[in-house]
Amino acid sequence: MLRVAVCVSGGGTNLQAIIDAVASGKIVNAQIVRVVSNNRNAYALTRAEKAGIEGICVSPKDFKNREQFNLALLEKLKEADPDLIVLAGFMVAVPACVIDAFRGKIINIHPALIPSFCGKGYYGLHVHEKVLARGAKVTGATVHFVDEDLDHGPILLQKAVEVKEGDTPEVLQRRVMEEAEWILLPEAISLIAQGRVRIDENGITHISDK
Ligand code: GAR
Repeated sequence: MLRVAVCVSGGGTNLQAIIDAVASGKIVNAQIVRVVSNNRNAYALTRAEKAGIEGICVSPKDFKNREQFNLALLEKLKEADPDLIVLAGFMVAVPACVIDAFRGKIINIHPALIPSFCGKGYYGLHVHEKVLARGAKVTGATVHFVDEDLDHGPILLQKAVEVKEGDTPEVLQRRVMEEAEWILLPEAISLIAQGRVRIDENGITHISDK
């Protein structure tokens, strides 16, 4: 059984998609062992509680400096002994100590088609605002492995989503979630749990058949 820790910051709809996919059997061979939030008021923590999953908060506000927060985050993740860490709307740049300790074992969902509309300043609703401001006709979501550079590691899954006339950032965000994010993230976890994902020496992922 793959032990999955999920890091969240806000509403937690992606966390919910994972919880539901584990319950329905869409995710095979995995269990969520801990949910970690940097935000005490994140509704995602309520979702965890309702599902009977341990949820904890590690907030930068509770530490003297960033270094101490980083170490506490690392400790809380290590404690859960995860095989995979899933960033599901986690609005914190993952510290190097965490990346080092869990190299190749962290995935992130990004609400655009990387390498477009990603990097510094591209998070949450801002991504969709920028897609609309640029007049892009297609956007989507990406699940990728996390390395030291923001939104940069090996791409695992992507799905395109149409931008429609009259879209607001909120409407587009919802469509990207419904048509891409909530499908891709559980699928990525299930593929990893089944041992079907390999990253080659060029940082390209390969998915094997069942
Ligand atoms: C999601 O759209 C996720 O892709 C995005 O934040 C939202 C969180 O929603 N993540 C990023 O922008 C990371 N760079 P949720 O809390 O309802 O899952």
